[in-house]
Amino acid sequence: MRKNIVIAIDGYSSCGKSTIAKALAEILHFIYIDTGAMYRVVTLYFLRNHIALHDSQSIEKALNNIHINFEYKNNQTLVYLNDEDVSDEIRQMPVSERVSQVSAIKAVRTEMVRQQQRMGQSKNIIMDGRDIGTVVFPDATLKFFMTADPNIRAERRYKELIKKGENVSLEEIYSNLAQRDYQDTNREESPLNKAADAIVLDNSNMDQEKQLQFVLSYIKPLLTGSS
Ligand code: DC
Repeated sequence: MRKNIVIAIDGYSSCGKSTIAKALAEILHFIYIDTGAMYRVVTLYFLRNHIALHDSQSIEKALNNIHINFEYKNNQTLVYLNDEDVSDEIRQMPVSERVSQVSAIKAVRTEMVRQQQRMGQSKNIIMDGRDIGTVVFPDATLKFFMTADPNIRAERRYKELIKKGENVSLEEIYSNLAQRDYQDTNREESPLNKAADAIVLDNSNMDQEKQLQFVLSYIKPLLTGSS
């Protein structure tokens, strides 16, 4: 039995996994780890350095040169690639369009999973992604699987990017989401999959507060020791 608490949140793209994970981490004083951001950082590095996705030697070499760090400042999670703040750049379309391909590469996954397991070795954490409850922490204390109607997800992501001043269309976002859902669920390496013991949270018609209360209703008994 593990001593530290690990809460795994998996699910489709743009389901609000990170929003709920961040809110939980703040309430519970747990460390939040956004594993999607890690795959995005690797994708950004590959793009900048013109790493061909079939060139396994260059990929291995690149992975040794990528150092990912998270920092929590003023309620924001900042993501660093070799000490450069890339939090905004990893959310832009060039990265979003390629991240599914990069995250399907075995060597990339092996390295990311290794780092993620190390991060959750001793501290109480909340980790979100696609394979946390199935591969990274099959023994997680609690597992949630988030899903929502694809149209609702696309609209949410669209509003988010427009607010940031990005020039994108709803159609473009929808097709990127559909493509990522397909690639994430059909890839050979650790496809997106609901763990048998994961609790499903479909938030198509739920506001943030409702989702938080839903998740907390499972977590609170763990903290007080009763069930
Ligand atoms: O959560 P996100 O949209 O930022 O994730 C970006 C991509 O990374 C997503 O298309 C799938 C991939 N990913 C993954 O394969 N495994 C994870 N644990 C997290 C993300």
